[in-house]
Amino acid sequence: MPPDLPNTTWESMYAPYDQATYQSVLQQIMLGEVILDIGAGDLRLARQMANLARKVYALEIAPELFSRAIEQKPLPENIIPICADARSWDFPCDITTGILLMRHCTHFQLYAEKLLASGAQRLITNARWGMAVETIHLDAPRIEYKDLQLGWYACWCGSTGFKPGLAHLLTEELTSCTFEVDACPNCSARKAKSPDFAQKLHSA
Ligand SMILES: C[S@@+](CC[C@H](N)C(=O)[O-])C[C@H]1O[C@@H](n2cnc3c(N)ncnc32)[C@H](O)[C@@H]1O
Repeated sequence: MPPDLPNTTWESMYAPYDQATYQSVLQQIMLGEVILDIGAGDLRLARQMANLARKVYALEIAPELFSRAIEQKPLPENIIPICADARSWDFPCDITTGILLMRHCTHFQLYAEKLLASGAQRLITNARWGMAVETIHLDAPRIEYKDLQLGWYACWCGSTGFKPGLAHLLTEELTSCTFEVDACPNCSARKAKSPDFAQKLHSA
């Protein structure tokens, strides 16, 4: 079992996003998809996704959010509410796309690995860039950070940044794209801070 999420961390707190953020998620969803909404809150986004998707698994750790939401308005049949901890709950194998609207998430890599292992193809999230929502193709190739000359990067561990380099190598094209990387400087910092980090990932 993962350790409890202290209820004083940003990650454990419920805060809805604005409709513009939800819209940037909804426009990426394809008709008939099977969605896993990780940290579904009071189901306000899940209800909107249910109009497009075939099925929405809505996963939330805080039971009171669900009970209040369901009391207020019955759920459509294609929303499956699951009150569990996303870190330890086994993801079903029919998911096509994961949703992670949780900008203070410290378990990005764990969720990405679990989605990939369950057969999901995409993850739509703001966990790496804060307020900006991105769509990640979970099986897209990643290069090692050390092999990136310079430019914007987003790492499998959840970190983002700009790798500096020689100014004359910085082209227009390089500034407008983001490289998917692995083994960034933050990965080693995290591993050093939490020696059981890698083990937790592999046992997920
Ligand atoms: C920032 S809120 C966003 C809620 C919802 N996605 C929305 O946009 O309205 C993050 C939610 O994730 C839930 N959460 C955090 N860690 C979780 C975990 N390990 N398993 C399930 N839910 C979690 C919190 O309880 C909270 O409701």
